[in-house]
Amino acid sequence: MGEPIAVGVLGAGYVGLVSAACFAEVGHRVVCVDRDERKIAALRRGEMPIYEAGLEDLVRRNAAAGRLTFETETAAAASACELLFVAVGTPSLDNGDVDMSQIKSAMEAIAESSADDKIVVIKSTVPVGTGAMAEALLRSKARSGVRFDVVSNPEFLREGSAVHDTFHMDRIVIGAASPAAGERLREALAPFDAPVLMTNRESAELIKYASNSFLATKISFINEMANLCEKVGADIGMVAQGMGMDKRIGPSFLNAGIGYGGFCLPKDTRAQLFIAENVDYDFKIMRAVVEVNQLQRQRFVRKVRAAFDGELAGKTLAVMGLSFKPNTDDLRDAPSLDIIAMLRQYGASIRAYDPVSGPKAAKLLPGVPIADDPYEALRDADAMLVVTEWAQVKTLDLDRAKAALRRPLVFDGRNVFDAAAMRAQGFRYFGIGKS
Ligand code: UDX
Repeated sequence: MGEPIAVGVLGAGYVGLVSAACFAEVGHRVVCVDRDERKIAALRRGEMPIYEAGLEDLVRRNAAAGRLTFETETAAAASACELLFVAVGTPSLDNGDVDMSQIKSAMEAIAESSADDKIVVIKSTVPVGTGAMAEALLRSKARSGVRFDVVSNPEFLREGSAVHDTFHMDRIVIGAASPAAGERLREALAPFDAPVLMTNRESAELIKYASNSFLATKISFINEMANLCEKVGADIGMVAQGMGMDKRIGPSFLNAGIGYGGFCLPKDTRAQLFIAENVDYDFKIMRAVVEVNQLQRQRFVRKVRAAFDGELAGKTLAVMGLSFKPNTDDLRDAPSLDIIAMLRQYGASIRAYDPVSGPKAAKLLPGVPIADDPYEALRDADAMLVVTEWAQVKTLDLDRAKAALRRPLVFDGRNVFDAAAMRAQGFRYFGIGKS
């Protein structure tokens, strides 16, 4: 790489912590700041606040090498670093708007504690116009002679493969009003060796929402195709494969199931709708995408009820997988939570299995026993419901699973099993988009 750069990262959440560790790994000197003192104390001991493959090693190694330090005060980063990455949370408000309070307080803290020029890089997902607003705020509060430039650099990493994604980025998007600031950021990110798109700030901000909204659209589209497949005797796996062979469509994000969850797609699709409403634009496709996603969870519950002739009271259902996707313990907007709530409303008793998110889930699901062993969750259950496609679920010993269940009944919300093989093995099997 070129010469190491001193970079600050504000916010030690998913994006901030992973970025900080990866920046240090490529040789930069990184100060990672979070106002949560307990989190910082834990990170200094090498304990991770999130479950993410490879992250702990990366943090420990770079902290030991002195390239990565953790602080609770923005001033610690502002005094030492030329580039300040802002990766604080931008959660949804109840009305769908984006809560910008953490961005604003980060800007105020930067302005207060910076004694020399800074390039402030916004990595958080923020509405269009935030870069300009942040720059105006910083400049209005700057000490005399201090110049701030704000650059937008949206983040596309996925939970569960965040470290891998950071080292294998499809693209780096840099949206700058000042060409010099954009160039400096390009130099800092050069070790990641990804194609760079230089653009203006507003376009960069919109690229993030547009990408997540499009991914959500792909998922809702394939889910509706799956619903159609069930009615006409087609198989969604084959339909998706056939579609995906067209290079213009591509094979990824065409897995039908119980809809998307997690912290990003649900939040960003709602924010996209809100942004459009604010400028009086009726974004019809986005409205449908969000609605279809909610309906997909309900359809799954309807399917389970129908198999029990509408009577779930007194039935025990084993839910396999709780996190919103495999390889993470994240339960934010996880389909499992909605699905379990609906099934319990209909009188079903739930038992669950998840290899990682059990302790977090126990707090959110009082009264639901959560096993670390899948066969224990299945014991004497009236059906198995596959909700998250963990490897441990995909590779279940099906003979053992069948012996554990009271009835050999499987609702596969993620199409992890082969329908014909399951039926040949004596299961009554319901997938998504399969007849
Ligand atoms: C997403 C984007 O992929 C990432 O670029 C962005 O930075 C953050 O949001 P993430 O939320 O980590 O990442 O998860 P992702 O792997 O995209 O999956 C989101 C949801 O969609 C999951 O619930 C997953 O199960 C679901 N999904 C995904 C499908 O139902 N079908 C698919 O084909 C793909």
